[in-house]
Amino acid sequence: MVKKIRASVPAKVILFGEHFVVYGKRALATAINRRLAVEVSGREKGGYHVKIEDIPTFGLEMDLELGKEEGKGKGKGKALLYKDYGVATKAIAYVRESIRYLEERYGIERGGEGVEIEIKSEIPLSAGLGSSAATCVATIAALKEYFGVSGDLEGIRNDAHSIELAVQGAASPVDTAISTYGGYVSVEKGEVERLHLSELNLIIGCVGSIPLSMGMDTKRASEMGLKTKKIVEGVKTRKGIFKAIFDSIFAASDEITAQAIRTIEDGDFVKLGALMNINHGLLDAIGVVPRRLSELVKMSQESGALGAKVTGAGGLDDMGGVGSVLVLPGESGDRIKAAMEIAGALVMEVKTGGEGLKITTENAELEV
Ligand code: MEV
Repeated sequence: MVKKIRASVPAKVILFGEHFVVYGKRALATAINRRLAVEVSGREKGGYHVKIEDIPTFGLEMDLELGKEEGKGKGKGKALLYKDYGVATKAIAYVRESIRYLEERYGIERGGEGVEIEIKSEIPLSAGLGSSAATCVATIAALKEYFGVSGDLEGIRNDAHSIELAVQGAASPVDTAISTYGGYVSVEKGEVERLHLSELNLIIGCVGSIPLSMGMDTKRASEMGLKTKKIVEGVKTRKGIFKAIFDSIFAASDEITAQAIRTIEDGDFVKLGALMNINHGLLDAIGVVPRRLSELVKMSQESGALGAKVTGAGGLDDMGGVGSVLVLPGESGDRIKAAMEIAGALVMEVKTGGEGLKITTENAELEV
């Protein structure tokens, strides 16, 4: 057995159609040049040990004991925190579920052997950039390779999607598809299609932390891990109350995504920006745009952006407006970045269409 396996995957941004995709409408997403890597190796001491580092604002180290008798998603853990949060939050839930899934689905018997899992990431958490899906894809891919479970990319994508679903309860296949395949994907009625579109230069503004005035207690930290779930549930409730109105909004989003794909193919960035602005308006209408993200979008538009919108799940005011916006900057990149930084956002310049899952051993890159 090879001693060390490294699986690296990209972050994602949803360009068009988040939330609406949960109900079968079209979405367009792309990989970006920010990555998360999971390294799996043997260790002398038994059990699984997880170390997470370099995630902006977060890190922890933990021994996992996944006694089968303790049931799904449980298990005794010892958290050795060395940064911000008071609890082992969602990253650990995805790792733990990946291990449980691997052992159950593929009948892996670890015996007395210990396993070290090390996660290094450039993807901020809870920012709508697919850190959860990236964790699922990279963890299951590295574990499968480590334990010699054969399979292809599609198998890894399906595994990762099942893991994400088990933790979150609901998730479209968008995020796990992007982390697996890279490039661009469109999703319609749950079906994933890989697209070949040209590269875009974008700016992401990320509200990555709870304002100090709101405090950050243990309860709030663990709720943050379920932010997407809470926002998706809120949309469902409002959709139930305002059914006819939401049906029209959802149909409009579907059409926007279809037009956006053609617009990227045509290289018409002015129209693409306008479609982003309209998509943002629809996201606001369904209630997923908190004040801080709304301000970042407006500031970008004022500063000359061709288009700006919330990306991913959006955010909630009572969770500090944590989340991200996506900007097509046109010629105004520097002004937009400066304005966002003054507003306290973490600003990232990114390129779309990044490479998908890469698995390497100590000596070689593997074909999946
Ligand atoms: C989250 O990145 C995007 C949502 O559309 C949820 C999903 O697609 O699973 C809000």
